[in-house]
Amino acid sequence: MASHSAILGVGGGIAAYKAAELARELMERGFEINVVMTAAAQEFVRPLTFAALTGRKVVTEMFGAGSAEDVLASSVEHIRVAQQNRVLVVAPATADLLARFAHGLANDFLTTLYLAFEGPVVLAPAMNTAMWRHPATQENVKTLAGRGHFIIPPDEGPLACGTSGPGRLPEPARIAAYLERLVTRRHDLDGETILVTAGPTREPLDPVRFITNRSSGKMGYAMAEAAAQRGAKVVLVSGPVQIAAPEGVEVVPVQTAAEMRAAVLQHLPECGMVIKTAAVADYHLAQIPKQKVKKTAMRLSLELDPTPDILAEVGREIERLNSGQLLIGFAAETENVVAEAKRKLQAKKCDMVVANNVAGDATGFEVDENEVTLVTRAKETIELGRATKRVLADKILDEALKLRLALHKDR
Ligand code: PMT
Repeated sequence: MASHSAILGVGGGIAAYKAAELARELMERGFEINVVMTAAAQEFVRPLTFAALTGRKVVTEMFGAGSAEDVLASSVEHIRVAQQNRVLVVAPATADLLARFAHGLANDFLTTLYLAFEGPVVLAPAMNTAMWRHPATQENVKTLAGRGHFIIPPDEGPLACGTSGPGRLPEPARIAAYLERLVTRRHDLDGETILVTAGPTREPLDPVRFITNRSSGKMGYAMAEAAAQRGAKVVLVSGPVQIAAPEGVEVVPVQTAAEMRAAVLQHLPECGMVIKTAAVADYHLAQIPKQKVKKTAMRLSLELDPTPDILAEVGREIERLNSGQLLIGFAAETENVVAEAKRKLQAKKCDMVVANNVAGDATGFEVDENEVTLVTRAKETIELGRATKRVLADKILDEALKLRLALHKDR
């Protein structure tokens, strides 16, 4: 088996033509590509395109024609292909393919191969926005993510059907880079347990209203994914978010700051590193009315109490026990970014604070990129600059490991 041999499954969507570019991108990165096309995919692109690009036979059907021996050989072909490849990537993964994978239907070569394949599976869905948002598709995506598959969510933008929204196949270069990272991943966190918090918390005002903070969970989920891909066991304490959990991560869902505190303290003893990316609401209503508060024309005042500062409490606990756990906080700031991060580093007894500038629209909350400076207990200020949250997550982990060595905080 070539070390980077991949099966490229092509589904029947308008984005099928982009799979040819993906094949080329992957080959440039040293992958050996074996293409499997569904019958629908062949309506959009001819197998010859992929055969010419890859220089290899393209699998287009379950049972080949010819002699009885040929038919018999082709009937076990899916097992052979499954065993001889390192990774399965499906792009575009249509709504129909996602449904058949999710439910274990094996009625053509690609779906049969999927069941026989034991390696990592990467799915890049692409379809019309309404089809992507349909609860049936979302349920199937959730099932597949829960099974440990890597889902590369579709991009937003104009679609072939004339509408605009999420549904576009991400750029082939991005999918190829994702696969490259997956197969060349490091194992420097093997045997570690890492606690990550992510997303916002919701503090109820009555049974129908709440206050919250801005956070999509993307930064925290990127941290969790990076740590898991480098071999760590990850406990992801997450406020309510709309994104799928990374592969192999234990998600502990919470709503309020109090619930997040309880979950963090419960899992703290087993973790060597704690990364607090969550945007925890700073205030809550101590006495929550049991019934919906009626709207009147009168002004309404709320008396709010501070929520528990979980990071500060964990900092004190680590210091009290001298447990050697590495504590990383985040700070979202709109001004005096580094000065504020340094203040939080001291006040909350952290080893590192990741300061992100959230003054602009292109970085920080909800978007895919962040702009980050690290301040550390070793009195370093490290500019990581602007990059995708996933790329920054690896760089933050790199620096965290260096810092742990410098501080002799190995447990
Ligand atoms: O989720 P995304 O859309 O990707 O956005 C990511 C992010 C911008 C939310 C994230 O990168 C980030 O910066 N998170 C920290 C948000 C913040 O402003 O935190 P803070 O300054 O309020 O708190 C500082 C630190 O204390 C944080 O690590 C926070 O988790 C922690 N904290 C805060 C309050 C509290 N009651 N308990 C805490 O533990």
